[in-house]
Amino acid sequence: MLPTLRTITNGLKRSLGLRSIQTTSVVHHESLFVHRDTPEDNPDIPFTFTTENKKRAEAILAIYPEGHKRAAMIPLLDLAQRQHGWLPISAMHHVAEILNLPRMRVYEVATFYTMFMRKPTGKYHIQICTTTPCWLRGSDAILDTIKKNLNLEVGETSKDMQFTLSEVECLGACVNAPMVSINDDYYEDLTVQDTEEILADLKAGKKPKPGPRNGRFAAEPLGEPTSLKGEPPAAGFGIRPDL
Ligand code: FES
Repeated sequence: MLPTLRTITNGLKRSLGLRSIQTTSVVHHESLFVHRDTPEDNPDIPFTFTTENKKRAEAILAIYPEGHKRAAMIPLLDLAQRQHGWLPISAMHHVAEILNLPRMRVYEVATFYTMFMRKPTGKYHIQICTTTPCWLRGSDAILDTIKKNLNLEVGETSKDMQFTLSEVECLGACVNAPMVSINDDYYEDLTVQDTEEILADLKAGKKPKPGPRNGRFAAEPLGEPTSLKGEPPAAGFGIRPDL
């Protein structure tokens, strides 16, 4: 069969390492969307919340009114994942039991959100955003640095179970692009050197300071403010000539 023009163009782009500006890269995430029983993840392995987490689960459930307890599903799955390090099928069954729901309802949620890790995950879960704003600001170089530094491909976990690398869509910090999230923290305005430093800290058992790395406090302009610098005009400004 003759190749189409699109196939030829895509092949050419791939060989040149290019990608269309209107598309983002194919995301290789850690999430497992089809369950297969494995020795470390099968329904025969018991799962229950620890005493401490049982109290947390009760507190979560108390937030939701009678008849709407199923809305606690995501917080309960998150609690289970924090307890176990990732989300085994037994934990999903336990949540279904607590909420008195068919297991399928829990499978649907747990496999939809990439925040739920369905495979054993490293101590540090590095999620790099490669969506267009981060990509335009150099996320490819950050991703390459992480891959080389940890000797990992996207979707892999290091043998010592320290690092898992995932590529994700926008994490909502585009104004501080490029960025990565590591567990619950965001590291933003990254350069290759920042990335190396963060990884070195993690390897040394230190917690790198989260947030922007270029001196910004949050998402304000770098340097001096560029707008909204004067006193705010009075109410009705520009609407009535006498004001
Ligand atoms: S595009 Fe990367 S955080 Fe939004």
